[in-house]
Amino acid sequence: MQADGNIAASAGDYSVSLGQFSAAAMDRARKLTTGLPLTSFARQSAVAKEVDALAHRLARHGLLEYRLSTPRDEQDLVVIEPQVPEYWPQRAKLGEGDTVVLSRFAYLRRRGNEMVLESPRAGALFRISDPAIGATLAALSRPQKISRLRRHAASFNLDLLELLLDSQILLNLNAQDGDGLRVNEGDGNLVLWDFHDLVFHTRSTEGRQSNPIGGAFTYADVVPPLPAVRPPWPGKKIDLRNFSTSDPISPFAKLLRERHSIRDFDDQHPVTLAELAQFLDTAARVLSEWKSGANFEGGPEISYSTRPYPSAGSAYELELYLAVSNCEGLARGLYHYDAGGHALVAIGVSGQQLQALSAAAEFAMDAPGPPQVLITIAARFGRISWKYSSIAYSLILKDVGSMIQTFYLAATDMGLGGCAIGTSNIALFAKMTELEFHVEGPVGQFALGRGKKQVIPS
Ligand SMILES: Cc1cc2nc3c(=O)[nH]c(=O)nc-3n(C[C@H](O)[C@H](O)[C@H](O)COP(=O)(O)O)c2cc1C
Repeated sequence: MQADGNIAASAGDYSVSLGQFSAAAMDRARKLTTGLPLTSFARQSAVAKEVDALAHRLARHGLLEYRLSTPRDEQDLVVIEPQVPEYWPQRAKLGEGDTVVLSRFAYLRRRGNEMVLESPRAGALFRISDPAIGATLAALSRPQKISRLRRHAASFNLDLLELLLDSQILLNLNAQDGDGLRVNEGDGNLVLWDFHDLVFHTRSTEGRQSNPIGGAFTYADVVPPLPAVRPPWPGKKIDLRNFSTSDPISPFAKLLRERHSIRDFDDQHPVTLAELAQFLDTAARVLSEWKSGANFEGGPEISYSTRPYPSAGSAYELELYLAVSNCEGLARGLYHYDAGGHALVAIGVSGQQLQALSAAAEFAMDAPGPPQVLITIAARFGRISWKYSSIAYSLILKDVGSMIQTFYLAATDMGLGGCAIGTSNIALFAKMTELEFHVEGPVGQFALGRGKKQVIPS
């Protein structure tokens, strides 16, 4: 807090300005370090409004936690840790006649010396401070009427249940929802998701979790790095150098040797629309479509396609979304590549969202500027999980790998440059496209453009 009324939050080297406040508001805000009741700044007074604005700003930066405590002795029951910037604790109303059950995506686990309740669907995780809550959660593995739970649960707290309901950790079962098992999760698009796959997706991408991701070297002082090349096995050695040459012997072998990542693009001579069309035609276009008969008795006929890269089960679940920043002949914006029609279809997004997407890619590549075209590889999850269930997500990531290599080779062949990007923000993509994160979302990214140092095609 500065003398001129400005408040900034800082952690390590990172500092964020939160605005200017009156002396009275600053005084109240001081209490945020130990805890201010949410109701205290939900009032109409000018000071309450200022503190409310400050709290929302802190929340958007992930700097607030929310304690739920017993009214009598102020013992913490749970502490809520937001995972998404929009999270604000809300209670979804429950009546005595309502029946609730835990979502099948909810899980309790040890984190350090704490027990946390999480779900890939939730915008926050709940640190459980009172072990009696664990017993109530165990009882909620079966549907429970609120009135009955109130009588029998070791620690009944309606506020907590309503907060959990708001976070989709609890489900409120309607009469038609039956037992709350998989097909009654309240969203038909979740039926095909296995638990581990949805956790994996949300915890290995940005946007729906607050853990640091990327090259953080978290345990570098505990475990030494592994060598670049695996030490050989001690067995008998057959030296292959006697049988092969290390000089490329075909145009393809030469192309493989030439391929490398390019992160710095020539913005004076950007990739052209004609080159982009050629690149997509070479690497991603639908070549033919066909149908197969039923896989099992009574099963439906399934439509398939062939494309230039391999895909598990010929599912071709991957879709391409192009964030265009600098392409000659093509306006800045977000486009979906219609691989069947070989066409780009514009999607209305804000300039700010587009900028945020490109800036994240620029950061991930430690590049001097945004990629000319940023390709987000999104998966239509249901297309592959309909058949493969528990291995669906791992197959998707393998498909992304084969697609990325295809992109690298096609770009190199055309004298263009590109770079794979290991992170993607699934929440930003969901906002831009208005597609729910578990229906269709990013699983990979590739930056494309004309590299500053021209690659000479063979
Ligand atoms: C799955 C995958 C993710 C990658 N993610 C990034 C990334 O986020 N940022 C980056 O600068 N490079 C990324 N790369 C590029 C690698 O750093 C690069 O392939 C590697 O250093 C080898 O260099 P080369 O591609 O020039 O041969 C990624 C590559 C792959 C295959």
